[in-house]
Amino acid sequence: MDVITPRPVSACTRNLHWLIVLLLSGVYLSAYYRSYLTTQLEVSNWYSLVVHINAGLLVGVFSVLAIVMRRRSGRRGWLAKLSKFALYSLLLLIPLSAYMGLGFKLPIAGHWMLDSFAQVPAARQFVSEQNMLMITFQEPFALFHQEWGSEVLLPALIALHVAAALYHHFILRDQTLRAMLGRGAD
Ligand code: HEM
Ligand code: HEM
Repeated sequence: MDVITPRPVSACTRNLHWLIVLLLSGVYLSAYYRSYLTTQLEVSNWYSLVVHINAGLLVGVFSVLAIVMRRRSGRRGWLAKLSKFALYSLLLLIPLSAYMGLGFKLPIAGHWMLDSFAQVPAARQFVSEQNMLMITFQEPFALFHQEWGSEVLLPALIALHVAAALYHHFILRDQTLRAMLGRGAD
């Protein structure tokens, strides 16, 4: 059983946490809105993809920040440490695999176009040295990004994570969730 007394959560960690939650909601909403409620002929199809890409990249950036600013896990149990490690890993690997699986330029913040992975000279050289087609190299990354990573692993981990937070709050009745909500144990 995990140790119950939580370490204080800094305002920075707390704000980053809820910002990532908010951005991730936007990432999923825009992805599924685009897939199920638009067609390739509509302009909203492109706009929702732009929102998806930018919110997804921000999830990656804020996750790096959250890792840098994170608390030491201290007396937390191994399960809590493992789930934190797995969550952060996926929050980085999913945007990274998105980039590595893409073949078109990325529209950033409505102003800049970032070369896709397939256009980066070093990536092209590496792939040709492996005697592979770029599309063959990119396929597993695209599959991880769109299916295994974001439709299976991340939702499963988030469900466990939220269940653990509610378990701490309602069954163990400790300060873990309150601390993350900014109430009480600061
Ligand atoms: C944590 C961040 C991210 C999550 C959870 C995520 C999740 C997803 C999901 C679930 C889909 C598939 C939707 C469907 O079934 O139709 C998707 C599609 C897509 N994502 Fe992401 N994504 C993230 C970040 C990114 C980033 C950073 C980029 C760009 C670098 C990106 C580019 C795309 C593209 C281009 C598609 C559409 C692929 C297609 O329809 O062929 N995503 N994403
Ligand atoms: C999009 C979904 C979510 C993601 C990706 C996520 C991710 C994370 C991560 C990475 C941490 C570790 C923070 C750190 O100490 O560095 C964390 C902590 C925490 N999260 Fe979430 N979270 C999500 C949703 C939620 C929700 C909905 C709740 C509340 C019901 C919640 C409650 C907590 C609590 C209480 C902690 C502190 C755990 C501790 O003290 O070890 N999270 N979350």
